Amino acid sequence: MSTLTQEIERRRTFAIISHPDAGKTTLTEKLLLFGGAIHIAGAVKSNKIKKTATSDWMEIEKQRGISVATSVMGFEYEGYKINILDTPGHQDFAEDTYRTLTAVDSVIIVVDVAKGVEMQTRKLMEVCRMRKTPVIIFVNKLDREGRDPFEILDELESELKIAVRPLSWPINIGQRFKGVYNIYEKNLNLYTPSKQVVTESVEFTDINNPELENYIGESDAERLRNDLELISGVYPDFDKNDYLKGELAPVFFGSALNNFGVKELLDCFTHIAPAPLPINAIERQVKPEEEAFTGFVFKIHANMDPNHRSCIAFVKVCSGKFVRNENYKHIRHGKMMRFSSPTAFMAQKKSVLDEAFPGDIVGLPDTGNFKIGDTLTAGEELHFKGLPSFSPEMFKYIENNDPMKAKQLNKGIDQLMDEGVAQSFINQYNNRRIIGTVGQLQFEVIQYRLLHEYGAQCKWEPISLYKACWIESDDNAELENFKKRKYQYMAKDKEGRDVFLADSAYVLQMAQSDFPKIRFHFTSEF
Ligand code: G4P
Repeated sequence: MSTLTQEIERRRTFAIISHPDAGKTTLTEKLLLFGGAIHIAGAVKSNKIKKTATSDWMEIEKQRGISVATSVMGFEYEGYKINILDTPGHQDFAEDTYRTLTAVDSVIIVVDVAKGVEMQTRKLMEVCRMRKTPVIIFVNKLDREGRDPFEILDELESELKIAVRPLSWPINIGQRFKGVYNIYEKNLNLYTPSKQVVTESVEFTDINNPELENYIGESDAERLRNDLELISGVYPDFDKNDYLKGELAPVFFGSALNNFGVKELLDCFTHIAPAPLPINAIERQVKPEEEAFTGFVFKIHANMDPNHRSCIAFVKVCSGKFVRNENYKHIRHGKMMRFSSPTAFMAQKKSVLDEAFPGDIVGLPDTGNFKIGDTLTAGEELHFKGLPSFSPEMFKYIENNDPMKAKQLNKGIDQLMDEGVAQSFINQYNNRRIIGTVGQLQFEVIQYRLLHEYGAQCKWEPISLYKACWIESDDNAELENFKKRKYQYMAKDKEGRDVFLADSAYVLQMAQSDFPKIRFHFTSEF
């Protein structure tokens, strides 16, 4: 096996996603502890964006600033190179999370045993389903009172619309929580509520062994045997291929805070999760083991310091080897570029890297050369697909508040849109610019950044819109007819594509039924 293939095989690049407060930060931290990447609990915590309904976005941005270091956390574990891509917890930054999901090969979903599937989890799962990303589910907080595990499994299946298969099973819950039986490895893990200690496990291949009673008592032993029998009766055996196809989610139970059930999760994850996968470019499919380097920008992180208007562009390596100081082609600009100080992310440390392999994330210092979705290659004309924009949910007209600064305003808006802060549309009827976002905070972010980074003043004016969707049709006449009929509600996105601005759910529904030959898309990738 060549070094390149070996390096690819041992890489696991994934994201942990959850509804705020389910335990994503805690789980991340425990995984880093196992990898020896950090040594004390609480180290990741300080970077957490508080998700309480704060609208103090400066505070959030400050925390986001710190979180550059934890945007990607790489560490070594038992021969594997693991890259965790962090996703912002605040729902107003959901778009960032969606994009990060395009750069991972698999996902771990954390669910709170008391709360079950929550709104944010459901939305993020839709993105995983769309991309057929393999997911593992971790049901957390078993040390607290919660719901019946069978009930949770049913809910996972119906709410997340994916088949599930428990690979570990809890023995009681809350104060009576005694541990989990690891179905995958056939051993019993007894619970010691200690935050730092890795619990020992007992080999237990035969669950009918009467020894079980000695460990967990008579009634729990009986219940565990019954539960396991029911599980093997109801759920088909775990099939790794179904998991890899994104059709089946293995489920683990535990308590991240108590570091319980986390090692089982990590061990199973490293075995079954996919190494970097081929990625589709418009021209062709690119395989990781190809010799020539390719990669794409999935995230741009701006420096909030107005004196240093620099960014970091996060590049996912898709194929070949990225080497420092080599010349690579920036496809959109059609020019060769050399990077003398690319950054590697290892746990919380950033360091200059000399080479990176598929699955790795490279940070490139940038002064406005990159936008989200840009492709870099060793020379081949390639354009990676699959960085969707989602139909925004909030809209406002943006207006210039300082006529002397029109140029700065436009430049600022264009760059912020390239960074992926929000989406801009030009209404074809009145030529006004509309900004669409997924959260209220983005409007404040844009206004503040335009002023502080570009010296431009904007003001917002209300527009009542329900949804913006991309439209297309094979029937050109029908498309033209639609655009004529709806001319007040037609806009162009920044790529010049047609967008329909529906002002209510009813109007959208009517348009869909009146124009069956037109396809309405709710993400820009179709
Ligand atoms: P998030 O990143 O998904 O938003 O969740 P985070 O890890 O920050 O966890 C949210 C809260 O839940 C934290 O408490 C955390 O300590 C707690 N938690 C996480 N895992 C478990 C668990 O297995 N059992 C129990 N009982 N609690 C858990 P907090 O009070 O918000 O923060 P802190 O004061 O503990 O830092």
